[in-house]
Amino acid sequence: MSVSKKSIHGEWSSRFTFILAATGSAVGLGNIWKFPYITGENGGGAFVLVYLLCVLAIGIPIMIAEIMMGRRGRQSPINTMQFLAEEASADKRWHFLGWMGVLAGFLILSYYSVIAGWALSYVLKAFLGSFSGGDSEHIKSLFDQFIASPWQLIFWHTVFMVATMVIVARGVSGGLEKAVRFLMPALFVILLLLVGYAMTTGFYEQGLEFMFDPDFSKIDGDAILTAMGHAFFTLSLGMGAIMVYGSYLPKHVSVAQTALYIAGADTIVALLAGMAIFPIVFANGLEPGSGPGLIFQTLPIAFGNMTAGWLFGVMFFVLLVFAALSSSISLIEPAVAWLVENKDMSRRTASIWSGIVTWLVGVAVAFSFNIWSEITVFDKSVFDLLDYLTANLMLPIGGFCIAVFSGWVMKKEHSQEELELFGLTYDLWHYLVKFIAPAAVFIVFLHVLGVF
Ligand code: PFF
Repeated sequence: MSVSKKSIHGEWSSRFTFILAATGSAVGLGNIWKFPYITGENGGGAFVLVYLLCVLAIGIPIMIAEIMMGRRGRQSPINTMQFLAEEASADKRWHFLGWMGVLAGFLILSYYSVIAGWALSYVLKAFLGSFSGGDSEHIKSLFDQFIASPWQLIFWHTVFMVATMVIVARGVSGGLEKAVRFLMPALFVILLLLVGYAMTTGFYEQGLEFMFDPDFSKIDGDAILTAMGHAFFTLSLGMGAIMVYGSYLPKHVSVAQTALYIAGADTIVALLAGMAIFPIVFANGLEPGSGPGLIFQTLPIAFGNMTAGWLFGVMFFVLLVFAALSSSISLIEPAVAWLVENKDMSRRTASIWSGIVTWLVGVAVAFSFNIWSEITVFDKSVFDLLDYLTANLMLPIGGFCIAVFSGWVMKKEHSQEELELFGLTYDLWHYLVKFIAPAAVFIVFLHVLGVF
């Protein structure tokens, strides 16, 4: 019976460690790099509101479901899905969900690593004092020159991928546990410092208004899809990352409460990042919708203007790289766990192979910012296409299936036994995954397809 199962990959040493690792997975480039720029591109307040609603009504219930399913299955998401389907006497083909997750993980990591490479190179730039003076023209041209160079992007992408592979090869519960314990609070403190700087720009209120004053005329179906997709992306949902982490979770840990902590921390970090960035955007006459370069064109202005800014700059980008690393390892873990379980590979070999595949796709992403910038598919560059395909389509579809599986296919007594939730709280969760979350995803898709 499943209850006595243990993962062959080991277990987290405590609930706290799991919270750290899962928060490490959730908090990453999505919060600090992506959230501000997509908020800027989609007009601000209304977009933020839709995103927050999606986190609450769709993200949190699905996170609870993913952790719970992982812990019950105790294997890579592919094998977990197969096991859970058998346990529920359902169609074995449910394990396609695990496969889609593995594919989404590879695709996300291929561009995630390129952007994390930008952050790495900005550590060096900060250290060399390249931001000093902090005038926005100079900072913008620094960024433009940087992304115009394919070799620089590939170099830093390679460094980041190698770091990811080394950590994954050693097993997720080693050094990373210790690192995240210290780095997460440090990142939080430095974000507060940047918000403090934003308050001195004279444009703080304007920044807040942009983020929190909803104007629904500014969003359309695509913006709603992006907000919903981002709720999945930022919480690492819909592809098995949180499921595989859940499979290393000891028994008798409250899954629901843990999910609330993770989602809460993740949301706070994203909002703080926005509150730091938008005042700087307005104070310097920049465009909130200027795209993926937004944080690289704004925060260095702050570092260039504050005392010991180079040091804070180094600290900020180092912490950002670590936040990215603790996410990237979770992107590749479902694939590595499966290779170890089914192909008899060592963690080391499995990490190397997964890393090589991801690295190769990443090279195409790096080119899409310069020499291949003219190449488009459906009007999107390779980077935009991968981002759209994964965050806006694959993760919500994965999340939809997870909600349907846990709400309709899994036996109630099994989910209840695993969650150790009773009465109203269980009913509320069950209602959310059975009806609200799948219906919400479905309606957003219909809307984007123009059905209404
Ligand atoms: N949640 C991460 C971030 O916000 O940066 C990205 C991510 C990690 C997405 C793991 C999906 C995933 F499975």
